[in-house]
Amino acid sequence: MDLRGILFVSILIIATGSASSTPILNVSPAQWKALNVSVGGRLHAGTPFALPCFSKYNNISVSADEAECSAIQANYTSSTFRVERFSANMNNQYETCMSTHSACLLDTANPRDPLATDGISCNQGEISPYYIDVRGPSDIQAAFEFSKGTGVPLSIKNTGHDYMGRSRRINSLGMWTHNLQTMGYDPRFVPELCTSSHRAITVGAGVTFEQVYKFADDNDSMFIGGYAQTIGASGGWMMGGGHSVLTPSFGLGVDRVLEIKIVTPDGQLRTANACQNADLFWALRGGGGGTFGVVIESTHLVEQRIPIQVINMTFTPTDTNSNLQEYFEVLVNNSAHWGEEGWGGHVNHAPPGLIYVNPRLSLAEAGASMAQLSAFARANNGTAIIETLPSWFPFFTKFIVEVEAAVGIPATLGSRLIPKALFESEAGRSQLVVHLLKQTIELGLPYIPVTTPIAFNYTPGATSVTPAWRTALWHLSGKANWSYNSSTADIRAALSTIHDFAHEDLTALAPDSGAYMNEADVYESDHEYTYWGVNYERLLAVKTKYDPRGLLDCWRCVGWKGAAQFPCYPDLS
Ligand SMILES: Cc1cc2nc3c(=O)[nH]c(=O)nc-3n(C[C@H](O)[C@H](O)[C@H](O)COP(=O)(O)OP(=O)(O)OC[C@H]3O[C@@H](n4cnc5c(N)ncnc54)[C@H](O)[C@@H]3O)c2cc1C
Ligand SMILES: *[C@@H]1O[C@H](CO)[C@@H](O)[C@H](O)[C@H]1NC(C)=O
Ligand SMILES: *[C@@H]1O[C@H](CO)[C@@H](O)[C@H](O)[C@H]1NC(C)=O
Ligand SMILES: *[C@@H]1O[C@H](CO)[C@@H](O)[C@H](O)[C@H]1NC(C)=O
Ligand SMILES: *[C@@H]1O[C@H](CO)[C@@H](O)[C@H](O)[C@H]1NC(C)=O
Ligand SMILES: *[C@@H]1O[C@H](CO)[C@@H](O)[C@H](O)[C@H]1NC(C)=O
Ligand SMILES: *[C@@H]1O[C@H](CO)[C@@H](O)[C@H](O)[C@H]1NC(C)=O
Ligand SMILES: *[C@@H]1O[C@H](CO)[C@@H](O)[C@H](O)[C@H]1NC(C)=O
Ligand SMILES: *[C@@H]1O[C@H](CO)[C@@H](O)[C@H](O)[C@H]1NC(C)=O
Ligand SMILES: *[C@@H]1O[C@H](CO)[C@@H](O)[C@H](O)[C@H]1NC(C)=O
Repeated sequence: MDLRGILFVSILIIATGSASSTPILNVSPAQWKALNVSVGGRLHAGTPFALPCFSKYNNISVSADEAECSAIQANYTSSTFRVERFSANMNNQYETCMSTHSACLLDTANPRDPLATDGISCNQGEISPYYIDVRGPSDIQAAFEFSKGTGVPLSIKNTGHDYMGRSRRINSLGMWTHNLQTMGYDPRFVPELCTSSHRAITVGAGVTFEQVYKFADDNDSMFIGGYAQTIGASGGWMMGGGHSVLTPSFGLGVDRVLEIKIVTPDGQLRTANACQNADLFWALRGGGGGTFGVVIESTHLVEQRIPIQVINMTFTPTDTNSNLQEYFEVLVNNSAHWGEEGWGGHVNHAPPGLIYVNPRLSLAEAGASMAQLSAFARANNGTAIIETLPSWFPFFTKFIVEVEAAVGIPATLGSRLIPKALFESEAGRSQLVVHLLKQTIELGLPYIPVTTPIAFNYTPGATSVTPAWRTALWHLSGKANWSYNSSTADIRAALSTIHDFAHEDLTALAPDSGAYMNEADVYESDHEYTYWGVNYERLLAVKTKYDPRGLLDCWRCVGWKGAAQFPCYPDLS
């Protein structure tokens, strides 16, 4: 598409009624052209992911592209397909503008459903009209200069996994970091200006978990990361906390980063580690993505490959769910000792059950530790298979890929970190069981990542995640999803249900705790305290130091300027 076509599209975005003032439209074609030249021709027009399936775009007739459309339909719920495309998100309400119903979605349940496309206009939603395919620091420097000069807001997108849609901003210039694809292994990595050496892997910002897990395995190592193939190892996961089923023993993503190369909004390429830019390094380990600059690459501590015990447990709920109470009691009664022994995992896949892993125990010890759970499974028409996998990557390939969360659907989460102390009193345990039964009735079986650093030796104050992580045993969550053609009222209802669940039910369980900023309620009422606890004031000072003009902003991020800047999130009040 040439620049004239793009300008035309931009004008149409105004015409289709964007809610906010749009500085992007005051930019002349010559300015866009100059930006394109300064980024070596890597400025692109952002068009909605499913546009090839439609014959109207922003209300204007266009021709559909049948071949491209059928590839999109076939791969609509594939995260590996989506991650390759700037305009795709994993939870696709963030491709749309929810509040104005500007969207371009297929029917997830049946991506070939003609009702989603025939006679329907594919609208721009939150997709940036222009984005830079970032290949190095100078592309980012050009974007910051451009934003400073024109007032056009910026957004940073890596994989599009963010549950709060922070990789989108309506009418922004997007920076897409997916193609920063370098990987290197160094058994004696020394952070710049430091002295101690570490077994480490350095990844470009676009590298995904599946890539780095395999690369680490090839180098006799394990990268400690999350439960999905295509999350970025160097983006929002790392900066927001980063949990893994191995976190109980090996810490969070933020505990394992050794060095980060980042372009801050003043245009400087900086190296942040324990020995230089230490304030920034601290803030980047918990303060969240999209806030302090654009990360180019990061270096992480890796472990030597070791065997891992795995339990794959399932059972059959009775018709009346009468065995669920016993199941929840088994989980709640055993969780404190499981945590101390280093077990981590995810509770509740389909069929109901769990997958837990342990890098510390022998197979026999694992069997003894899980005896009550195994007996429960056998008594309830289920199975509990305990086996030794040679290392992390074989475990990931065998167990995680088939159970990772569905993508290509509109969905939202609410969650809270549940303190170990609650599991240590009779009253706390029964409160938890009552909660789990209630949650099952209202939202379906609870999804519980058991991924807190409970048995990890942490130096207090070393990172900026909420200290609630350090004393929690569970990251307890609830989810709601809706349909591609749900009305704004129905979307608001789903968001409200999850907000009330997080704000009332979960908060009542753990009033002084916090929540994981990447997987919390989108409408969290007291997000500064809930996401960061006592660290917020210091995070804000670092934000102000490195981004005094506030060139970067995202939903409930450090220094967030407020909901008025983000008109696509429906107002729930
Ligand atoms: C299916 C699924 C499974 C998940 N499983 C886990 C899990 O096991 N463990 C876990 O901890 N979390 C998990 N998450 C949550 C995940 O950590 C967050 O969604 C996280 O924000 C993803 O970061 P990203 O960079 O891949 O995604 P994006 O959506 O592209 O970006 C997320 C945020 O980081 C910013 N950002 C991205 N790249 C950069 C960069 N280079 N520089 C600066 N800012 C950047 C973006 O602007 C945005 O604010 C899961 C999410 C999904 C959808
Ligand atoms: C787009 O077309 C639809 C259907 O004709 C119309 O209702 C809508 O107002 C149009 N949008 C704008 C902003 O022109
Ligand atoms: C930017 O320049 C490249 C190379 O000249 C061109 O292919 C591309 O279409 C331009 N981008 C825009 C948005 O015009
Ligand atoms: C999309 O799906 C089809 C059919 O499953 C597959 O053959 C094709 O390779 C996929 N396309 C891409 C680009 O992954
Ligand atoms: C790490 O593994 C890659 C293969 O994925 C290999 O090319 C590289 O040489 C290895 N690095 C070292 C230092 O052994
Ligand atoms: C769980 O522990 C409580 C005591 O705290 C006990 O009453 C209950 O029977 C136990 N449940 C199971 C299934 O072992
Ligand atoms: C036992 O489980 C199997 C498979 O999950 C299921 O088909 C069967 O109906 C279950 N039986 C009972 C009694 O629940
Ligand atoms: C886990 O157990 C269930 C039930 O026995 C089984 O269907 C599933 O395939 C197992 N998962 C793996 C990866 O072996
Ligand atoms: C939510 O997702 C599930 C599984 O992906 C699907 O079966 C269900 O229909 C969805 N709910 C709505 C309201 O679309
Ligand atoms: C939503 O989509 C489904 C499937 O295409 C269709 O049956 C239903 O009528 C649609 N609902 C509305 C309100 O348009």
